[in-house]
Parts: sequence; structure tokens; C-alpha cells
Amino acid sequence: MVTIAKLEPKHAKALNRLTIDAIRDYPAAFTTDYSQVRHRPFGMLVDHLRDLERTRGFRLGAFDAGGELVGTVRLIPREGPKLAHSADVVFLYVRRDRQREGIGRALLERLIEEAGRIDGLEQLELSVSSDSSAARRLYEQTGFEVTGVQRRQIRVGEAYHDLIAMWRSL
Ligand SMILES: CC(C)(COP(=O)(O)OP(=O)(O)OC[C@H]1O[C@@H](n2cnc3c(N)ncnc32)[C@H](O)[C@@H]1OP(=O)(O)O)[C@@H](O)C(=O)NCCC(=O)NCCS
Repeated sequence: MVTIAKLEPKHAKALNRLTIDAIRDYPAAFTTDYSQVRHRPFGMLVDHLRDLERTRGFRLGAFDAGGELVGTVRLIPREGPKLAHSADVVFLYVRRDRQREGIGRALLERLIEEAGRIDGLEQLELSVSSDSSAARRLYEQTGFEVTGVQRRQIRVGEAYHDLIAMWRSL
């Protein structure tokens, strides 16, 4: 059983650990490289989570029965009169040992519910790596449809991965 809640500055250390592990374990799923975050001080995330409280965006966390952070996803609403009807869904991750328990789906469903309450927000956008077939299936199951493909956007060593653009109305 997990609890989904919006992340606050007090969760910065746990979020730092979780995202560093995600980027190390799934290099083709995220555009940030492990070398860019491995020594990142968690204080940077304290500021980031504090700043989020002043925007329309949020980061959700999935917490296990012991209060440990085991999954996360972020919503970034776009800014400006011509773009504010859209928001980007980024960094969906569930810790490897807790995958296939419905946590990813619970995170996304809660994100969609919360996004639906944001004034003026009409649609969600995201990019998923062609390497992340599990994530793509999950996005399709939660109402996202493919709108395009950006070729060779992520290079990991000698391997290139496309980014698949997906969209969902709210
Ligand atoms: C994608 C991810 C978040 C899914 O989290 P999860 O908690 O395991 O997902 P759920 O248990 O809620 O499963 C929901 C659906 O996802 C799909 N799915 C999840 N894991 C899968 C797998 N290993 N193979 C195929 N489909 C899978 C299935 O459609 C599943 O529905 P089903 O169980 O009815 O078949 C997780 O696998 C992950 O963190 N992957 C690595 C990071 C990543 O790729 N992030 C996406 C970046 S855009």
C-alpha cells in the first residue's frame, strides 16, 4: 500500500537519492546523465521544491508504509498567455524493487486528477524514450496518444533512442 502526496522541501534528500538512482539505472529513459547528478547536493532540491510551491506545478511522491519515497512524477505547467493551457509531465519513476505494483499508474492518475483542478489547464504533453516501452504502455492506458517522433534525441554510448511525443486532453 502506498500513499501519494505532493512533495515538499523536507523530501529533498529522499528525492535526490531516488532521482540519482533512476538516472543511473535507466540511462536511456531520461535526458539527464548520471555524471550530471551523481554529486548533486540535495540542497539544490530544497530550493527547487520550495520554488514549486510558488508555481502552478507540483511533484508527486509515492510513499510506502514506512514513509519511504518509492516513486515520483512532476507536472510543469507552461507559462505565458499562448502556452498556459498546456503542461508537461516529466520524470515518472518507480523504484525498481517496487515496480509492477500499480504505483506508476497511481502516480499518473493522481497527477491527472490534480492537473484537472488547475485553472486554465486543458492538456498534458510528454516525451517518452523509445527505450521505455513499459512507460509508453502506461501512458496509453491513462489516455495519452502518440503525436509524433523525434529521431535520435538520446545517445547512450553508441546507441541512439527516439523520443515519442504524447498528448492527452484534460
Ligand atoms: C514506467 C514505470 C514508472 C511504471 O511504473 P510501475 O509502478 O511499474 O507501473 P504499474 O505497476 O502501475 O503498471 C502500469 C502499467 O504499466 C505497464 N508496465 C509496467 N511495467 C511494465 C513492464 N515491465 N513491461 C510491460 N509493461 C509494463 C503495463 O501496461 C502496466 O499495466 P498492467 O499491469 O495492467 O499490464 C516504471 O517501470 C519505471 O520507473 N521505469 C523506469 C523509468 C522510466 O522509464 N520512466 C519513464 C520516463 S518517461
